[in-house]
Amino acid sequence: MTVARLQPFAETIFATMTAEAVKHGAINLGQGFPDSDGPARMLEIATEQIQAGNNQYAPGMGMPELRESVAAVRGVSSDDVLITVGATEAITASVLGLVEPGAEVIVLEPYYDAYAAAIALAGATRVAVPLVAQGNTWGVDVAAIEAAITTKTAMIIVNSPHNPTGAVLNVRGLAELAVQHDLLVLSDEVYEHLVFAGHAHTRIAELPGMWERTITVSSAAKTFNCTGWKTGWAIAPPDLLEGVVKAKQFMTYVGATPFQPAVAYALREEMPWVADMVAGLNLKRALLADGLKRAGFHVHDTAGTYYLVADVGQDGLDFCMNLPARSGVAAIPLQVFTDHPEQWRTKVRFAFAKKDEILAEAVRRIAQ
Ligand SMILES: Cc1ncc(COP(=O)(O)O)c(C=O)c1O
Repeated sequence: MTVARLQPFAETIFATMTAEAVKHGAINLGQGFPDSDGPARMLEIATEQIQAGNNQYAPGMGMPELRESVAAVRGVSSDDVLITVGATEAITASVLGLVEPGAEVIVLEPYYDAYAAAIALAGATRVAVPLVAQGNTWGVDVAAIEAAITTKTAMIIVNSPHNPTGAVLNVRGLAELAVQHDLLVLSDEVYEHLVFAGHAHTRIAELPGMWERTITVSSAAKTFNCTGWKTGWAIAPPDLLEGVVKAKQFMTYVGATPFQPAVAYALREEMPWVADMVAGLNLKRALLADGLKRAGFHVHDTAGTYYLVADVGQDGLDFCMNLPARSGVAAIPLQVFTDHPEQWRTKVRFAFAKKDEILAEAVRRIAQ
């Protein structure tokens, strides 16, 4: 039994493909998690916190130490920071707390699946505007977004660096539209630090007229290789954050306490570790791209994140459903993140945050 507004949502593609990978002993380049740990001292601090008895509810807004670290990285006040259970909770709470039932929310497709579920839970309507091809990657189609704006539009959700395409988006035109039409923007920046040399991430909240209308969400998951810690945050001016807090406090009240000082430490002290990791990811990106090219696929450019999109020249869903059994590798078809699957039909996402030897083996298997 499921309420009507959640009935369109099947099992997530990540669960399906991970189950297929396990069944066939395949290398899982489907789900976006790394196979190595975050900074050693960060892990120690979490352990120490548990041993020292920091095991009860954190304050409602999160532990002051972590709110201050997030605020320092962003150059904002800690009053503008709410700690959440991953970026996922920050996303859902933002939509539930700030978008009225019946309003429209614009998402850029392909879009992360949690946006669609949050919009449905809020009783709002999703309006998907495709990214457009730009060179060998994708970009924001400002004219198409403008055409999609109606009197009911309340919010635009944007994600850059972008999962699943690996594009680092130019969000300036989108920001101008938001100001012109007085819209909220939910900016999902979980990959903000995973940007390769020669590319730069723009914080949309820092563009003219944007601070007062933007909720920025991010988390420790991708920055510090700790997706299982589910420690994230929402950043917004207090009058916007109010709605997010109201929704969040009845979803989970607070997130896990002992991880918060550990992540606070990492944000203060471990950015050099992150830079090293990104340099390593750059090499992994090349390894996977070369292998996929040798296997005969067209490979798109990746400027950020740890995803790479290949054109497999056939239906991507069929390709991905067969790949674990045929080649011992799992990947994710882009079409499942879209409302207009046709233009994404042959595109497949591979995650490359895996050990070099695992990636080399995956490439060898795909080539065969
Ligand atoms: C674009 C995007 N947003 C949010 C998340 C979820 O972040 P968290 O694990 O912090 O909830 C992910 C995880 O893959 C993601 O790719």
